[in-house]
Amino acid sequence: MINMLTAVFLSSILCSVFAARPEIVDDILPEVKRLGQTAYLNCSVINLQSPAQLQWLKKTSPTGPQKNISSDETVFIDEVVEGKRKYDVVKYGNTNRLMYQLIIRSLTETDAGNYTCQIYLPNQNYKEWPQKLGVLTVQIPPTIKNDSLASITVNEGQNITLLCEAQGNPAPNITWKRADGFPLPNGGFQQRGGIYKVYQINATDRGQFICIADNNVKPPASYTVQLVVIFAPYCTAVQDTVGQAQNRRFHAKFECLVAANPRAEVIWYKENKATREKEQIQDNDKYKLEQQDDQRLKADEKWYTLEIKNVQGNDYGDYYCTGKNEHGENQAQFQLFETMDCQGQNCPSVGAIPEIEDDILPEVKKQGQTAYLNCSIIHLLHFIAKVQWIKQTSPTGPPKNISSDETVLIDEVVGGQMKYDVVKYRSNDSDIYQLIIRSLMETDAGNYTCQIYLPNWDYEDWPQTTCVLTVQKTMKCQGQNCPTGKAPASYQVSIVTFMFGLTISFSIRYCF
Ligand SMILES: *[C@@H]1O[C@H](CO)[C@@H](O)[C@H](O)[C@H]1NC(C)=O
Ligand SMILES: *[C@@H]1O[C@H](CO)[C@@H](O)[C@H](O)[C@H]1NC(C)=O
Ligand SMILES: *[C@@H]1O[C@H](CO)[C@@H](O)[C@H](O)[C@H]1NC(C)=O
Ligand SMILES: *[C@@H]1O[C@H](CO)[C@@H](O)[C@H](O)[C@H]1NC(C)=O
Ligand SMILES: *[C@@H]1O[C@H](CO)[C@@H](O)[C@H](O)[C@H]1NC(C)=O
Ligand SMILES: *[C@@H]1O[C@H](CO)[C@@H](O)[C@H](O)[C@H]1NC(C)=O
Ligand SMILES: *[C@@H]1O[C@H](CO)[C@@H](O)[C@H](O)[C@H]1NC(C)=O
Ligand SMILES: *[C@@H]1O[C@H](CO)[C@@H](O)[C@H](O)[C@H]1NC(C)=O
Ligand SMILES: *[C@@H]1O[C@H](CO)[C@@H](O)[C@H](O)[C@H]1NC(C)=O
Ligand SMILES: *[C@@H]1O[C@H](CO)[C@@H](O)[C@H](O)[C@H]1NC(C)=O
Ligand SMILES: *[C@@H]1O[C@H](CO)[C@@H](O)[C@H](O)[C@H]1NC(C)=O
Repeated sequence: MINMLTAVFLSSILCSVFAARPEIVDDILPEVKRLGQTAYLNCSVINLQSPAQLQWLKKTSPTGPQKNISSDETVFIDEVVEGKRKYDVVKYGNTNRLMYQLIIRSLTETDAGNYTCQIYLPNQNYKEWPQKLGVLTVQIPPTIKNDSLASITVNEGQNITLLCEAQGNPAPNITWKRADGFPLPNGGFQQRGGIYKVYQINATDRGQFICIADNNVKPPASYTVQLVVIFAPYCTAVQDTVGQAQNRRFHAKFECLVAANPRAEVIWYKENKATREKEQIQDNDKYKLEQQDDQRLKADEKWYTLEIKNVQGNDYGDYYCTGKNEHGENQAQFQLFETMDCQGQNCPSVGAIPEIEDDILPEVKKQGQTAYLNCSIIHLLHFIAKVQWIKQTSPTGPPKNISSDETVLIDEVVGGQMKYDVVKYRSNDSDIYQLIIRSLMETDAGNYTCQIYLPNWDYEDWPQTTCVLTVQKTMKCQGQNCPTGKAPASYQVSIVTFMFGLTISFSIRYCF
C-alpha cells in the first residue's frame, strides 16, 4: 500500500516535472552573412518559466571559455559599433512558445563561430541544461597577398613560377589566365591553383598574366604580373605581296611587324635583280621609311613601313625587312609585282578627278610655223574620260571641236599635211595630249581649250584650261639694221577657273 502510494506520488511528481521542463525546439538555422552585415540567430523554446532563463553564449575558440552574451532579454556586453549596439536579444511569441532572436551587428571576421543557446535551470546540474548550437559564418571577399612581383623578366627558354596567394572566407579558388585572352603557354585558357609553373618560356608567352581569386563573395580579387621576355627579333610581313601599276604616280607600301626585346635595329633592303645582292634602302625622295606606333601592339612590338613612291618598272622585285638585336636576327620578305590598275587604300577611287597640270607652255609663233600646245593630265586612266581640244577663234563665234582623245575631228589638209594632229605622250605620272597646228595663219590665233569630258559630271565641273595662241605677222625687213632677235610679241593672259562639285578646290590655270 505504501509502495503503491509512493509510486503514485512519485509518478505525479515526475509527470509534473516533465510537463514543466523547458525545451529548445527546432535547430538553430546556420547564418551566413558578409562582413559588415547583421546576423540573426533564432532560438525557440517551450515551457520556459521563471526561474529558468534563456542565455546566449559564444565560444570564441574551440578550446577557450564561453562568453556570456545575454540572459533573457538582458545583454551583458555593452559594445557599440557604428552607433548601434553590437548585440541585442529580441523576444517574440507567447508563453507557450518563445523565440529569442540574437542580433549581431556590423559583422567582423571574429564574429564567426559557434553561438550556444541554453536554458539555465537553477536547481539542476549544468550538464542537464538544454542547449543548441547556432553556427555563424562571416563571408569575406578574397584578397590577394601582394608580395609577388608586378613584373618578371626572363630570357627565352627559362622556367618560371608564378605565385598567387589569396585569402577569404570561404577559401577562394585561384585561377591564372592571360590578359590578352590568348591560350596559356601550356595550352588551355585557365590554370587552377596559386602556383603556376611555366617551362621553357617562349617569346610568344610574354605579356600580362592575371591571377583571379574568387570565392563567390563579391568582389573577386585579381593581380596582374607582367612577363617580360628577352628574345631575338621576329619580323612578320603584314602582307608579303603587294601589287601596283607603274608610271602612274602610285605608291606601294610594305608593312613589317617587328617584335624584339631589346628593341631591334630595323633595316629595309631591296634585292638587286642582276647581282641578287641586297641593297640597303635609305629614306629619301624615292623611299619613305617610317616606324609607327599602334596601341594594339605590345610594348616590344613595332610597326615599320616602307613606301615606294611613284612605282616604276624597275621597282618590281623582292624586298626585305630585317630586324637585329644582340640575341639574333630575323627577316621578312616582300614582293612588289606589277598590276594594270592602282592597288591599295590610297588609290584614287572610282570617280577620282582627273586634273590638268598647271604647266602648259605658251605658244607665240610666226605665220607658217607649227604650234604645239601640251595639255598634261594626271589620274586620267581611272575615269571614262575623254580629252578634247576646242578652239575659239573669234570672241562671238561658236567654239569648234578639234579633237576627242587622239581623234581629230577637222579633216583640213594644208601643204600636204593634216592641219591638226593630236599626239599622246605618256610621262612618269601624266598623260600629255599635244595639239599640233601646222602652217599657222593669222586666223589660227585665238583661245584653245583643253577640256576633260566627264560623262557623269556637270559640264561646269569638267576640268579645262584655255591657252592663247598668238600668231605674229612676218615682218619683211631689208638691209643691215634689220632686227635679228625676237620679234615684238604681244601677250595675253587668260585665266580660267573651275570647280569640282562641292568638295574639290578650284585651280587657276594660266598661260601666256
Ligand atoms: C529568425 O526569425 C525571424 C522572425 O521570425 C525571421 O524573420 C528570420 O528569417 C529568422 N532567421 C533565421 C536565420 O532563422
Ligand atoms: C563549432 O562547432 C563545431 C562542431 O559543431 C566545431 O567543429 C568547431 O570547432 C566549433 N568552433 C568553435 C570556434 O568553437
Ligand atoms: C556566465 O554564465 C555561466 C553559466 O550560465 C555562469 O556560471 C557565469 O556566472 C556567467 N558569467 C557572467 C559574467 O555572467
Ligand atoms: C626547366 O624545367 C625542365 C623540366 O623540369 C628542366 O628539364 C630544365 O632543365 C629547366 N630549365 C632551366 C633553364 O632551368
Ligand atoms: C616559340 O614558339 C614558336 C611558335 O610556337 C616557335 O616557332 C619557336 O621556335 C619557339 N621558340 C623557342 C625559343 O622555343
Ligand atoms: C571552387 O571551384 C569549385 C569547382 O568549380 C566549386 O565547386 C567551388 O564552389 C569553388 N569554391 C569557391 C569558394 O568558390
Ligand atoms: C600591390 O602593391 C602595389 C604597391 O605596393 C600596389 O600599387 C598594387 O595596387 C597592389 N596590387 C594589388 C592587387 O593589391
Ligand atoms: C610637249 O610635250 C612633249 C612630250 O613630252 C615635249 O617633247 C615638248 O617639248 C612639249 N612642248 C611644249 C611646248 O611644252
Ligand atoms: C580669249 O579669251 C579671253 C579671255 O577669256 C577673251 O578676252 C578673248 O576675247 C578670247 N579670244 C577669242 C578669240 O575668243
Ligand atoms: C563638241 O563638244 C561638245 C562638248 O564636249 C559636245 O557637246 C558637242 O556635241 C561636240 N560637237 C561636235 C560637233 O562633236
Ligand atoms: C620620271 O621619274 C623619275 C624618278 O622619279 C625622274 O627622275 C624623272 O625626271 C621623271 N621624268 C619625267 C619626264 O618627269
